[in-house]
Formats: sequence, C-alpha cells, structure tokens
Amino acid sequence: MIAPRLLALSDLHVRYPENRAIVDGLRPRSEADWLIVAGDVAERVDDVVAALALLRERFATVVWVPGNHELWTRSRDPVTLRGEHRYRHLVQACRELRVLTPEDPFAVWTGEGGPAIVAPLFLLYDYSFLPADTSTPDEGLAAAYRAGVVCTDEHLLHPDPFPDRPAWCAARVAYSRDRLAECDPELPTVLVNHWPLTRLPTRVLRHPEFSLWCGTQQTADWHVRYRATAVVYGHLHIPRVTWEDGVRFLEVSLGYPREWGARGVPDPLLRTVLPAS
Ligand SMILES: [Fe+2]
Ligand SMILES: [Fe+2]
Repeated sequence: MIAPRLLALSDLHVRYPENRAIVDGLRPRSEADWLIVAGDVAERVDDVVAALALLRERFATVVWVPGNHELWTRSRDPVTLRGEHRYRHLVQACRELRVLTPEDPFAVWTGEGGPAIVAPLFLLYDYSFLPADTSTPDEGLAAAYRAGVVCTDEHLLHPDPFPDRPAWCAARVAYSRDRLAECDPELPTVLVNHWPLTRLPTRVLRHPEFSLWCGTQQTADWHVRYRATAVVYGHLHIPRVTWEDGVRFLEVSLGYPREWGARGVPDPLLRTVLPAS
C-alpha cells in the first residue's frame, strides 16, 4: 500500500482552459491523500466551487484558503458580493462541499510525518512589505504607481465592511493569532496562507514594488512562534522551496499558462508537504 501524503497546490487559475484541463487531470496517488489548495482557484464563485467539488471527490480531505482572485468582485460574476461578505459566501460554499476553511476547526494530519496541525489562514496584506527607499505605505504605493506596478486588487478587491485592506488584514491577523494560540502546544503546525508569511520570498520579484500586495510584517515570526514544520503559500507564481530558521517554506503555485508554458509545469505539480522528503 502507498503511504498517504499531505499535498499542496495553489494558483490554479482555472479561468484559463489550459489550467482547467490540468486540474481535471489531478489524481491522488493514495485515496487517503489530503490536498491543500492555497488560493487563486478562480475569480467567479461558480468556477471556484466547481474546481473544489471536483477535488473533494478525489482527495480524502481538501483544505482551502482564499487568494486575492477569489475575493475580486468582477462585473461578469453573478455573485456581486464584496469583501468580507464574499469571503463568508465562499466559506459557506466550502462547508457544503465539506472542504475545510480558515473558519473551521483545524484538522490534524496523522499520516507519515505527522501528527501536525494543518492551519489554513486568511491574512491578506497591509502594504508593510515596502519597496526600497520608502518608509511608509503611502510612500510605497506612490513608488508603485510611479513604476506602473499596481495590483488589480486596488480596483477589484473591496475591503467592505472594513475601511481599507490594512484594517481587514489587522482583523484577520488578530483572529488567526487567537486560533493558533488555542492549538495544542505539543504539536507542530503546517501554516497555510495564500500570501507569503515572511518577506524573504518576495526578494526575487521581477517588480519589487509588487511586494506591497504580498503580505504583512506582522507574521514575520509566526513560523517559529507557532512551531511550523512547513509553511505553504502561493500568490507569487514563483514555485520553489526556501528555508528560514530551519522551517521549510513551499511556494506551490501552478500559475498562468504563459508562465508554466515558458518554464514547464512544476514537476511534481502536487507538492508533498508531509512526509518531508
Ligand atoms: Fe495567482
Ligand atoms: Fe494571488
């Protein structure tokens, strides 16, 4: 019998038919494999739900966190909800599929490499990953606009009912801190968030100003503080593994067809989080 694995993938972007075909072809190796889906499944709610439903049929457990694309409110989507209301709508849809979200009790991986608490997080960003030579979010944003590097979130990711995205991020950080503080202190964790938890992975961005939309300094020590055995993220579309303080950080994206078309689909596409190889 093949030992079950805790697997991860992000940035499926199934709006592209080529990506949809790849997702359609995903299969577990063991019927007891778990799959972490670390955000940016799609923009339209029905596309997100269809992709997660398909994966839920195939994997024993599916854990999802939202990416920025799920939170975009576009005119073509019949679901016109914005911000927190949109997120809660997606959480409800996941519950109907029995897909785990940041609002559910954390599951414990007890297969090889475990036990470990699998903690899906939704933390957003607060413009604290500042570009060089800037010292405030306003200065950072001004530099980004000057460079012509502005994330589409500015137009489509609405923070309602919060006054702005940093306020929503602060609320998410506080909620997640409380949830992680309640965890069994004897168990290690797998921390899952669409945006990187630390600044380091953004150092290789082609456009450094884009780091503003990539995370928050408030989580810089969470991999140590919350005993992570691995951190899983996406968003950057730069698949790789880095290490900080002896902790493995896995960027598990598929990315856009133009990206994987140029460099090849990550092999293997489903990254193994546990057991650590
Ligand atoms: Fe993405
Ligand atoms: Fe993203």
